[in-house]
Amino acid sequence: MKLGLNIDHIATLRNARGGVEPDVVEAAKAALEEKIFALTMHLREDRRHIKDSDLYNVQKLNAKINLEMAAVEEVQKIALDLVPYSVCLVPEKRQEITTEGGLDVYNQREYLKEFIKPIKNKGIIVSLFIDPDLNQVESAKYVGADYIELHTGTFSNAYEKGDYKNELKKLIIASNEAKKLGLKVNAGHGLNYKNVYLMKEIPDLSELNIGHSIISRSVFVGLKQAIKEMLELI
Ligand code: PXP
Repeated sequence: MKLGLNIDHIATLRNARGGVEPDVVEAAKAALEEKIFALTMHLREDRRHIKDSDLYNVQKLNAKINLEMAAVEEVQKIALDLVPYSVCLVPEKRQEITTEGGLDVYNQREYLKEFIKPIKNKGIIVSLFIDPDLNQVESAKYVGADYIELHTGTFSNAYEKGDYKNELKKLIIASNEAKKLGLKVNAGHGLNYKNVYLMKEIPDLSELNIGHSIISRSVFVGLKQAIKEMLELI
């Protein structure tokens, strides 16, 4: 299993003061030195954390960028110009603190099919962030995605309450269905140092995208050590 580090929180902290610290590029460099597979950056429509310039500056490090984005034309233009390693389409609401729930691929499958085409034509891998729901998995295949990223938020919340088995089962079933259809499978959201070991129960997961827990741990032990510890666990 590979690790994608979500560095949005570095930008959130920087933007809190409106200055340059902590430096997103410095964080990206440290992560790459720890052999992180990819850097996940979510360019939100309201630019609340990652800014357009962050993407281009990190790209200069020859990093694999996994660009999280809403399926909107304004950000699509940036993706087509940047040409990141991969794009992960997510639902986006202005009011939410973080990405709540997966993308409803089923109910916008014709729109997404067209939206994805120019991205794929640029050779960019396309992933869709979805809940572990078979209808959504099948729709992801229909619209032409390469990967799905399973939303592990509900599983992570259930883990805290001590009753995660049902949620884990849903992730395994969705992952197996995706693989049957020829899709590759990533997972992320809410994963931390306590619950991540359970991701090994999901056969053949390609990549985990983790942000909050690693950046939180880095406050105490430093970013490189926090990454090392997570890499050891996965
Ligand atoms: N994957 C996706 C698609 C996300 O939107 C997020 C949160 O930004 C993550 C992974 C990482 O979640 P967390 O910060 O809870 O580890």
